[in-house]
Amino acid sequence: MFTIAQITDLHITTSEAPLDQARNRDRLHQTLRSIEALRPRPLAIIATGDLVDRGRIEEYAALKAILAQTDLPIYLGVGNHDNRLAALSQFSAPNIVSDSHGFIQYTLEFEEYRIVICDTLDEGREGGAFCEQRAEWLVQTLTDRPGTPTLIALHHPPIASGIRWMDPDPSAEWILRLDRILSQHSQVCAVTTGHLHRAFVRRFANSLVTVSPATSIQLTLDLSPVDMRVPDGREILTEEPPGFMIHMFDAGEITSHFCVSGPWPTAVNYTHPFVKP
Ligand SMILES: [Fe+2]
Ligand SMILES: [Fe+2]
Repeated sequence: MFTIAQITDLHITTSEAPLDQARNRDRLHQTLRSIEALRPRPLAIIATGDLVDRGRIEEYAALKAILAQTDLPIYLGVGNHDNRLAALSQFSAPNIVSDSHGFIQYTLEFEEYRIVICDTLDEGREGGAFCEQRAEWLVQTLTDRPGTPTLIALHHPPIASGIRWMDPDPSAEWILRLDRILSQHSQVCAVTTGHLHRAFVRRFANSLVTVSPATSIQLTLDLSPVDMRVPDGREILTEEPPGFMIHMFDAGEITSHFCVSGPWPTAVNYTHPFVKP
């Protein structure tokens, strides 16, 4: 048994807004400390995009300085706030790898399991994308190891949360394409994403998609109808505590835990045997 931590939507920035700068940095620090305190220690951390807020080289440099404070290996994917070339100017293999078309897509092998990091960034757009070139790479990658339990990690959830203003069109081409591929590869045990800044799960392509909470601010849970053309003043983002996920790989399956970054006071200690003699 081993675990891998997932962080997402770090939104590290060097922008003029000092509040965002300090808040997102401090929340990432808090999350890294929480991950490092876990027993057993995760083997690695995967970061599923929106690594920085504006896709600027100086933001990736700031992120690099923060991540240097943990000795856990960190593997990066990109989201809609990222810029591939700027990210690649500050990070290199094995922490970030691009495929032959320049997309940030690569595989990680851990014992008899696999994590496949995919790229859903469409630079200049908020929404997700997964074009034919990326799809070809994924099909080839999954075809190479059909018997290996696999976790797919990407930024944009291909599923709806019910928070309408953030949800994708379920009939979008990239979602149908991903659905087709994943449905044909039964070794895919789970799909994990970010982008929504809130934890939720939903079935997709004979699998389960988990969406990790953000290390930066969270999305407000408001499932009431919304008119996209008429702002009604509702709260849309909240300073709920930062969060992350722990994926446990054991007995050929992947079990995923949603975690709130601590520290938290102890409620009860284990001082009496669980099983009486
Ligand atoms: Fe984000
Ligand atoms: Fe995003």
